[in-house]
Amino acid sequence: MSDKKSVHGLWSSRWVFVLAATGSAVGLGNIWRFPYITGENGGGAFVLVYLACVVLVGLPIMIAEIIVGRRGRQSPINSMRSLAAEEGLSRRWALVGAMGIVAGFLILSFYSVVAGWSISYIFSIGAGRFAGATIESAELAFEGLISSPFHLLFWHTLFLTLTVFVVGRGVQKGLEKAIKILMPILFFILLLMVFYAAFSGDFRGALQYLFKADFSKLTGDVILIAFGQAFFSLSLGMGSIMIYGAYLAKDVSIPKMALVVGGADTLVALLAGLAIFPIVFGFGLAPGQGPGLVFVSLAISFGHMPWGSFFGALFFILLSIAAWTSAISLLEPVTAWLVERFKWPRPKASAIAGGLAWFLGVGSVLSFNEWEDFVVGGRNYFEWMEFSSTTILLPLGGMFVAIFASMKLANRSVQSEFGLEHPMSYRIWKWSSTYFAPVAVALVLLEGIDLGGVVEYLHKISAENILGLPV
Ligand code: PFF
Repeated sequence: MSDKKSVHGLWSSRWVFVLAATGSAVGLGNIWRFPYITGENGGGAFVLVYLACVVLVGLPIMIAEIIVGRRGRQSPINSMRSLAAEEGLSRRWALVGAMGIVAGFLILSFYSVVAGWSISYIFSIGAGRFAGATIESAELAFEGLISSPFHLLFWHTLFLTLTVFVVGRGVQKGLEKAIKILMPILFFILLLMVFYAAFSGDFRGALQYLFKADFSKLTGDVILIAFGQAFFSLSLGMGSIMIYGAYLAKDVSIPKMALVVGGADTLVALLAGLAIFPIVFGFGLAPGQGPGLVFVSLAISFGHMPWGSFFGALFFILLSIAAWTSAISLLEPVTAWLVERFKWPRPKASAIAGGLAWFLGVGSVLSFNEWEDFVVGGRNYFEWMEFSSTTILLPLGGMFVAIFASMKLANRSVQSEFGLEHPMSYRIWKWSSTYFAPVAVALVLLEGIDLGGVVEYLHKISAENILGLPV
C-alpha cells in the first residue's frame, strides 16, 4: 500500500533531489526580494527573525510536504486524494492539492514577468547601457523597460517557453538534466559575485548591516513580512516541494534532506545580500530602495565599477537561472496532474499549463503600463496576483499539509516515511507541525487578510450600538 510507483519516474540520486529542491527554493525570492525587504526592514534584526521563521515553521512544513509527496508518489492533488482514501479520510483533502495548483498558476504568471526583466538586463547591462549611469538615467532605463508592454511580453514569453521546454521533457530528461547543469553554474556565479563584491565594494558595511541586529526596528509587521518571505523562499504551500518528494527514493532520510535544502536556501539568501549590499554601499546608495534595489541601485553601481558590464551581466544571468529553476518547480505539479488526469503526453500538458500561465501573466505585464491606474481594493492586477497567492494561498496550503501529515495520517504511515533513527527529532517535528506551525500560519493569514481591521470595526460598532459607549 505504501510502496506506490511514480508514473513520472524518480530522481536518479538523493543529491539530484537536493539540487532540484534547492533550485526550486532559490529564486527571485532570495536574490531579488530578500535583499530589498531586508533593506526596507532595517537589516540584522529582520535577518534574525527570518532565520527563526525558517527553522520553526518552514522546516516542519517542508518535512510534511516531502512525507506526503513520497508516500503518495503522484501530483499533489492525487497524492492527497489517495493518501486520504487509504486512511479512510475525506477525499476533499484533494482540494488542498487543487488550491496549490491554482497558487502555482498565479505565482508562475507574475514570476515570469519579473524573471523577464532579469533576462532583459543581461543584455542591457552587458552591452554597457549602464556605464557611467546616474540615478536618473538608471531609473529612466528601468521605467523605459516596464512601461513597454511589447518588451515585457517578449521577455515573459521567452522565459515561459524555456520553462515549458524543460518540464515538457520529463523528470529525468528535462528537470534533472537542466538542474544538473544550471545549479553548479548558479553556485559558481554567486560565489564569484561575493568575491567581486568583497574586493571592490564596502564589504564591512554589508556585514554589519546584515548581521548587526538593531531590535528597535522590530515591529509586528516586520515579523509577519519575515514569515511570509520564509514561506515563499522555501517554496512551501503549493506542492512544488511535495512533487519533488514524490520523485525521491524510499531509503533517503526526509528530515536530513529538508535540513540541507532549507540551509542551502538560507545561505544563498545571505550570500545574495553579501553580493549586493557591498556594491550598493560602496557607491554610497541607500539599501531601502524596494523592488528597484537590483534593477536600479545595483545597476547604477555596476555602471561605475571596473569590469562592471561584465559582472553586471553575470549577476543577471545568476538571477535568471535562479528564477528558471524555480519556475520549473512551479509548472511541474500541474503538468504532472494533467498527465495523470488526462493521460496527455508531457509536452502537451506542459505547453497547455504554460500557455495558461502566460495568458494570466499578460495582466501583470499590463499592470506596469496600460493598466497602471486600474486599481481595485488598493491593489493593481500584479499586486493582487502576488498578494492572493503568496500571502493567502501558500500559507493556507502549508498549514493544511502540516495538519494532514501530523494529525490525519496514521502514526505508523508517517513514521515509516520519517524514519525512526531519531525519535527525538520525530517528536519535535510532530509537535511543531501539529501546534506551532498551524497557529503561526493562522496568525499570518489573519494579518494578511487584515482581520485586525475587521476586529477593530466590530469592537467599534458593538461598543457604539450595543453597549451605547462613545468610541
Ligand atoms: N522559492 C522561489 C523563490 O524564492 O523565488 C519561489 C517559489 C517557487 C515559490 C516555487 C513557491 C513555489 F512553489
